[in-house]
Amino acid sequence: MNDITARILSQMITDADFVSGEALCREFGITRSAVWKHISLLRSEGYSIDAVTGRGYRLSALTGRPVEAEVRPSLTTRRFGRKIAYHSVTASTNILAKALAVEGAVEGCVVVADSQTGGRGRMGRTWLSPSGVNLYFSLILRPGVPSIRVPQLTLLVAAAIHQALSALSVDFAAMIKWPNDILANGKKLCGVLCEMQSEPDCTHFVVVGIGINVNQSAFQPPLHESATSLFFETGQLSSRPELLASVLNYFEPLYDSWLLEDDLGFILPYLETHSLLQSKAVTVDQLKRSVSGTVRGISRFGELELESAEGEIILVSSGEAHLRSCPSSYNP
Ligand code: BTN
Repeated sequence: MNDITARILSQMITDADFVSGEALCREFGITRSAVWKHISLLRSEGYSIDAVTGRGYRLSALTGRPVEAEVRPSLTTRRFGRKIAYHSVTASTNILAKALAVEGAVEGCVVVADSQTGGRGRMGRTWLSPSGVNLYFSLILRPGVPSIRVPQLTLLVAAAIHQALSALSVDFAAMIKWPNDILANGKKLCGVLCEMQSEPDCTHFVVVGIGINVNQSAFQPPLHESATSLFFETGQLSSRPELLASVLNYFEPLYDSWLLEDDLGFILPYLETHSLLQSKAVTVDQLKRSVSGTVRGISRFGELELESAEGEIILVSSGEAHLRSCPSSYNP
């Protein structure tokens, strides 16, 4: 969508009432036939627009796609999501966001896609990304902290997503699974993949990639055993633009506090209250070893605190945690 089309759309979303063709001509310095072309383009993209002689144009239905014009009315942030690059299809929003960050994109820019052909998950896994139903987006951050602190961001964003999901429905109990998943009824609803470019003392940028299963109504086997969506959990369709805005609205103040506070201490009570693993017996698989114990908490640096059978406290900084009493389908 070109710039003027997008601005006409934004104006119609903001006004909610009829806007005259003449006013649009004046506002954007274009002819009446150009206005008509932009309106036709918007209609071809799925927007319902009433045209009434003597009154002008009025938007009667949005598309529900997470495009900037539909996200912006729900945003309360200062920086996050103020620039959103939307793609109907791309390989991976993380790849695009990293390229933008290398080119100098400012903190807060978001890349969002309606579908991904090569969505990436942790540990080299793929993230299935069908079109029209879910959220796939990547946020560019420039935290200016030593790279050793960056892994804490995964838990911080998990808290923000959890807050946004919890605000949707009181009947809906999502849990945070250290370090980067949100689960509901033991099935995965959302994943986070943070990637960074850094030197030891300086983080150039972090790309926070978020996938949320929103309105997906079916999962192919074997995924149906381990994955769920908001639609499955609540029985209701959710607005993707509003949910995207809500995650950013919750995340920005948490991120600002984290920059000031130096660690996760301020959000630990929230993380522990909503932690799926709290007080549970788990095994954490790491690249070269596995560690087992009972989860006693999360450290202010984001490590999982495990108590071994011998009563020793072990701090685990990375890995894939599995509940020991649960079948493997609980560990998507
Ligand atoms: C995981 O749980 O393994 C992390 C999944 C992260 C998926 C998101 S979708 C948007 C962004 N783009 C990607 O390619 N991956 C992340």
